[in-house]
Amino acid sequence: MCGIVGIINSDNLKIKAINVLSKLEYRGYDSAGVSFLAKNNIKTITEVGKISQLSKSLTSTGYNAFDSVIGHTRWATHGIVSKNNAHPFSNQKISLVCNGIIENYSELKLKYLKNYKKNIESDTETIFLVLNELSKKIKDHNKLIQKLVSIIKGHYAFLIYFSDTQEIFSLKSGSPLSVGKNADGIYFSSDPSALTEYVNNIYHLQDGDIIKVSVNTISHLNGKKVIFENQAKVVNEFSKGDFKHFMIKEIYEQPHVIKKTQKYYDADYFLDFRNKLKDLTNNLDSFVFVGCGTAYHACLVAKYYFEQFTDIDVSCEYASELRYKNISTKKNSIYVFISQSGETMDTLMALKYVKSKGYTTIVVTNSLESTMVREANITLPTFAMKEIGVASTKAFTCQLLALANLCIEIGNIRKNISKKEYIQLKQDLKNIPTKITKILKNSSYIDKVVSLLSSSKACYFIARNIVFPIALEGSLKLKEISYMHSEGFAGGEMKHGPIALIDKNVLSICLNPKNKLYEKSSSNCEEILARGGKVVVFSSKKSSSKKNLLQIIMPKENYIDTPFIYTIPLQLISYYFALNEGTDIDQPRNLAKSVTVE
Ligand code: M6R
Repeated sequence: MCGIVGIINSDNLKIKAINVLSKLEYRGYDSAGVSFLAKNNIKTITEVGKISQLSKSLTSTGYNAFDSVIGHTRWATHGIVSKNNAHPFSNQKISLVCNGIIENYSELKLKYLKNYKKNIESDTETIFLVLNELSKKIKDHNKLIQKLVSIIKGHYAFLIYFSDTQEIFSLKSGSPLSVGKNADGIYFSSDPSALTEYVNNIYHLQDGDIIKVSVNTISHLNGKKVIFENQAKVVNEFSKGDFKHFMIKEIYEQPHVIKKTQKYYDADYFLDFRNKLKDLTNNLDSFVFVGCGTAYHACLVAKYYFEQFTDIDVSCEYASELRYKNISTKKNSIYVFISQSGETMDTLMALKYVKSKGYTTIVVTNSLESTMVREANITLPTFAMKEIGVASTKAFTCQLLALANLCIEIGNIRKNISKKEYIQLKQDLKNIPTKITKILKNSSYIDKVVSLLSSSKACYFIARNIVFPIALEGSLKLKEISYMHSEGFAGGEMKHGPIALIDKNVLSICLNPKNKLYEKSSSNCEEILARGGKVVVFSSKKSSSKKNLLQIIMPKENYIDTPFIYTIPLQLISYYFALNEGTDIDQPRNLAKSVTVE
């Protein structure tokens, strides 16, 4: 993962570098560092921890003699979290930052650094030292960089500075990197949206690109033209406003972003998209939904939707599994990739793999400038806007909305649902923001659930049918931000093993909408209570009160809005429990917002 920044031939370097790195911090926050750059002069400062730590170290320093800077925020892959493994790696001649993984670094170490005494832990440090070794023989920097590219294997983006010529090279293979230019300098970033306040024109590097910056000139080493595109300004997306954390701000944004997304689908978008779908779904055998983490849970919900409203076969795949599977090329399938960031390495690689087999690919994302959007045949956009909290909330519910719309469009095209049903389902989707607003207003149960969680050693989420993926999602939210042990189970599976976990120290949260499986899930609750477990049940139907059972009454649901209704309270209880535990909610330990390594 990691984020990299470069600001070349500019001023206010300290402020700008910290500003861009703070926006890239979602990509990793184990350590951070910057190299200030000038002719034959490199000054590097690194710190373990977040950008705020690095910012503090920089306050007492001047660095006015420098005209450029490169910087890095790290999510540790190879080598522990330490100052030694923090980027940039530098000496007085070269400074280098990298995002990604160099897979053959052990081989390179053996080949080029045999006589090296120092214990080298990280892949990037290996590359830095190899580059220094190679530079003893290859004096021309263009040739040196080409040699480096020819010997490294992996997914990466690099910025490499040579102080003798003041040239900066940027290399991309797999990991994202963009460059922008304006009158006061040249800017590089792993995420172009981190640069919007500095540049309007952006070039997204392609795999295999080697871009050189020398005396304000940007050129491609293989002679290709660097063509800049206009980038839309992102207004105030990096501000928490009056909220304590991005996560809670993003939870409360849901009615607004869902409304905005639905409005877009109700206007012109689906007119055009529907025609494309008509062609694509002729003779179609199946849809395959692909994602990781929360996005995978959206895939599971899509499967329930499609089984309910269409006659098409649907399957779901973890991107990390799909990318290494043999897939048949005989089937006429559409692959739908779901990703908040549009940059998740496993999802991106699975998309490229599936595309190489000739399948049509659709990406569902809110990151409309992302690599997946550029790779996929069709984009189904959501307007969740930028999501900063590591725990996905509004991006998830907007993904559900996109998938619900996709499903009913297909159901309509294939005449699996009547015109009347189609209109009603559309109306149900339009009503979702109002229902969510109501749920957000009525949160009096939260303290009680937080207190039950505080007195429990583990929490299990139990549900059936369309809310089963929401149980998995609730469990993921709880464990990632509070670190409490948690699992999600399909109600019917409890007797096949998980019920052995139940005792008086365990809390079970049961999602029980009023549908044909209501009684079955009620039996699950009874069985847990009978074994001394504590139960919180979210349901639109009131049942008789019982010892150790806390009931929370939910608004009446339809099949299509059920997953939305049951997601919101789980986001809230995870947030408030984590707040109570005092964890780092927006940047939980060991995680990063965008998983751009395998
Ligand atoms: O950016 P993506 O949607 O592709 O990310 C996928 C997962 O890494 C992500 O959903 C992760 O599970 C979240 N932290 C969950 O809240």
